[in-house]
Amino acid sequence: SPLQATAPTAAATDVPVSLASSSQPPKMSSPQDFTFLKELGCGSWSTVMEAVHTGTDKRYAVKILSKAQLIKQKKVKYATVEKDALAKLSGTHPGIVKMYAAFQDETSLYFVLDLAPHGDLADLVKKYGSLSLQCARWYAAQIVDTILWIHSKGIVHRDMKPENVLLDSDMRIKLTDFGSAYLSPDGDLSPRASTFVGSAAYVSPELLNRSSKTTSNSSDIWAIGCTVFFMIAGSPPFAAINDYQSFRKIEALDYSFPEGFYDSAKDLVQRLVVLDPSDRLGVEPKSSPSQLREHTFFAALTDDPADTPIQWDTL
Ligand code: ADE
Repeated sequence: SPLQATAPTAAATDVPVSLASSSQPPKMSSPQDFTFLKELGCGSWSTVMEAVHTGTDKRYAVKILSKAQLIKQKKVKYATVEKDALAKLSGTHPGIVKMYAAFQDETSLYFVLDLAPHGDLADLVKKYGSLSLQCARWYAAQIVDTILWIHSKGIVHRDMKPENVLLDSDMRIKLTDFGSAYLSPDGDLSPRASTFVGSAAYVSPELLNRSSKTTSNSSDIWAIGCTVFFMIAGSPPFAAINDYQSFRKIEALDYSFPEGFYDSAKDLVQRLVVLDPSDRLGVEPKSSPSQLREHTFFAALTDDPADTPIQWDTL
């Protein structure tokens, strides 16, 4: 009948314009697509801003890199490495911050990233002084899994530290800041010559030693050991009054465990924070990633956030 024939047509034209056009991907290709709310962090050539995407009302962290500062400080390579690493890793693992878009204008480069609303692991540890065994295990397991994943993709982070471990709304980690990363051209993981990158307190001894400046997975493994120590002790093992004093302590493996440091965590740290990179747990060929995953420190791990002592609603 005419009624049945016209009814669907009338219904289709009633669809609101906003719904009908939502099948197209939202435009996210210029700073004009965002409302910038507040600064989340800043470095010498970059600023991270919380921003709302005006087309969707979704919140993001937008990392803004100044072209003038990148050129002046000779850090253009950092920007290209960060973009290349994120392009390769984004969306492949839940422990890696996702990049939704990258664009530029005359003055700046922009990376649109997952917003991590709970800050970073360094802030969390500073807030509580130190973490319980359960809590440290929860974060350490995610850090190990994420770092082993990026290694399997032929990438070394090279600036693994608690400040670069962000915390999302489910209290899970999002590794960020890939500007210092090493991307092997062919996905191969053999050691390469490299210059010093990274942060003093977490840098591995082989990156300090002029005779063996190489890039390999083992440097991230060292930094994981320092991070586990930091979560439980409340300060990194090689903390010192300045970078030079930290370097001296690192080269001498001059650190000690505070009273009451959990035994299984102590054993793990002692197998990761080892001067010879080839002797670290998880580093091939003497060890393997599965040996690191299966260390007794991780044995009581559960996947239930309710088992961890810190509840976000109490923060
Ligand atoms: N600080 C740096 N990057 C961030 C992010 N993605 N989310 C929240 N804070 C940040």
